Order: sequence, then C-alpha cells, then structure tokens
Amino acid sequence: MTKTIIGNLKMNLSKTDIKEYVKELREINDENFIIAPAFIYLTEFLPKAVSAQNCYYYDEGAFTGEISPKQLKSIGVNYVIIGHSERRQHFGETDEIINQKIKAALQNDLKIIFCIGDTLLQYEQKQTNKIIENQLRLGLENINNLDNIMIAYEPVWAIGSGKTPTNSEIELFLEHIKKTLSKKSSKIKVLYGGSVNLNNIKHLNQISNCDGFLVGGASKSVIELKKIYWETR
Ligand code: PGA
Repeated sequence: MTKTIIGNLKMNLSKTDIKEYVKELREINDENFIIAPAFIYLTEFLPKAVSAQNCYYYDEGAFTGEISPKQLKSIGVNYVIIGHSERRQHFGETDEIINQKIKAALQNDLKIIFCIGDTLLQYEQKQTNKIIENQLRLGLENINNLDNIMIAYEPVWAIGSGKTPTNSEIELFLEHIKKTLSKKSSKIKVLYGGSVNLNNIKHLNQISNCDGFLVGGASKSVIELKKIYWETR
C-alpha cells in the first residue's frame, strides 16, 4: 500500500513562511502527501492535498470562531484531522464530540484522519489496547462505512517529546487497531504519529503494517518533511 505522509503544521508559520513552503513543494504532486496548515493558509496549498486540523459539527449557524465541514468542502479541502490529542487535552474534546465531528465531516464528503492514543500512565499500566478500543468504539459509534476514514495512532507521550514506542510495540498497537475495526473494514489505513523525524524515519519505516506517518514538529521545516516523504518512497 502506498504510504500516506501528513504534515501537521499545527499553529505554526507566518504567511511569508507559508509562501516559501508552498514553493518548496512544487515538484511533489502526490495525493498521499497531505499538508495540514492552519485554516487561514489552506487555500495557499490547493490544488494539492490539504487537510484542516479541526472542524465543528454543524454546517452553519451562530458559532463565532468555528469553521464548519461544509465551509471546508466549499473551498476545496478534502481532509480533516479529528480527535487530535491536543484538541482532547486543551479544548475539552470528548469522544462524543469527536463522534459528532466525524459524522458531520463524513456527511460533507470530507475524508477523516481520526487520531487516537494513550497517555504515558495508560501505556505504563499496559492499558493501551483497551484505550484504543474505547476511543475507536466511541469515536466511530453509528458509523459503519469506514471508506473515508484513516486512523492515526499517536501516543500522547510521544507527541513532541522526541520519544517513540519501539517498532514492535507500534506494530502490535496498529495490528490491534486493524483487528478492532475488522468487522467494519478490511482495508483501513492506520498511520503512526509522535516524534517522527528525519533521524528515526528510516527505522520507523520498517514497521510492516504501518500505512504512513503523521508528522508534527518536524514538518515545520519543509525540507525535513520532504526528506521524510522521500524516505518512504
Ligand atoms: P510531533 O507531533 O511529530 O511533533 O510529535 C505529531 C502530531 O501531533 O500529530
């Protein structure tokens, strides 16, 4: 399977930085290479594959400061990240809210990058499989067609920390995700995310059941992100 690489730029980069970034991406035209910039820069990257980092669960209305899946679709965006641990942690997003957002995004024909992951305590207490199952069950409640959904497994403790689980651990967790979803889909893509960078991509790329990578911090440098991408090709 062709690996999907997603650059999650988070709340980084100025407009000038973004112009440079877009220029640097000129030579790559690959629907499996997706950039997720702040909302205000999404159109700068089009018609390349872009993802929003979040969306609301209503199409329109009096919700000051929110962006709807319908609005994203209307400007030509095809992907949205939902359930990122930073949204769960800092913005109080529960599994129920995440489920509503996924449903609303699917109704608007968006493709979903659904993030799940365990905390350090849960990992140390060997609760990872249980946490994964719960997040998948609640986040995907009443959603049976997973054709437009991919999963990003991102241990909370690996995000931005420079630490990653071992390859064999990641392999087991990704396998568990695929097994948990096997009744709904036999071909769902499952990505790994959390401190993926140029130093560890060669190693991480050896994980046999990993369908791609969600890259945060390292994607602030377009040069580094491009190198990570080419390592997986
Ligand atoms: P990181 O972030 O690569 O900086 O750990 C990954 C993410 O938050 O998606």
